[in-house]
Amino acid sequence: MAKLTFIGHATFALETDDGARLVIDPFLADNPTTELTADDLEADFILLTHGHYDHVADAIPLARRTGATIIASFEIASYMEEQGLQASPQHIGGGVHYPFGYVKMTPALHGGQLALPGGEKYTTAPAGFLIDLEGGKRFYHAGDTALLTDMQLLRGRVDVAALPIGDRFTMGLADAVRAVEFVEPELVIPCHYNTWPLIEQDGDAFKEAVGARAETRVMAPGDVIEF
Ligand code: NI
Ligand code: MN
Repeated sequence: MAKLTFIGHATFALETDDGARLVIDPFLADNPTTELTADDLEADFILLTHGHYDHVADAIPLARRTGATIIASFEIASYMEEQGLQASPQHIGGGVHYPFGYVKMTPALHGGQLALPGGEKYTTAPAGFLIDLEGGKRFYHAGDTALLTDMQLLRGRVDVAALPIGDRFTMGLADAVRAVEFVEPELVIPCHYNTWPLIEQDGDAFKEAVGARAETRVMAPGDVIEF
């Protein structure tokens, strides 16, 4: 069983059944929904969907302390290598086999700025991740994105999906329900909402709107599921 912890906002920790520790989009110290900092998490791999501050804020301190490899788009990986960190560059549509499974970057429609000091020239396309674990389960983290017809290509290929529902910067509730129709995951987890008033949404209303299309788990920060 893989163990998935919702840290808050779009930050997740995923521990695979063979013990690999993944952290996706570490946003900790300035994240109003968690007390955790980069000192509290362990990581072998850090996955970054895109360069916005609320996705990369704590990647560098976490990678420095743990020695984790950063998995990100070529441009963001290059930036991280320039900081002296270990990185594995990928890009949209491409996958890489890691000891814990196969990670493919998926399209996301969103902004591309790398919001870290000196990051301007590393501006790039944002992405999501499809993580195909050795154990056979598949986790899709959509990243920050609009609803994309391309999501239909994931149908039948996802067991657990984390989808943004915050509206304003990403899909809102109604489009996230359409994303569930496109992807048909067994389990869907709403994220990227209620972090600030600007992206206030009702997670339970999302669950109700998804209805029988999938099981919906409205996770509070710190909640853990196994799959
Ligand atoms: Ni963003
Ligand atoms: Mn964001």
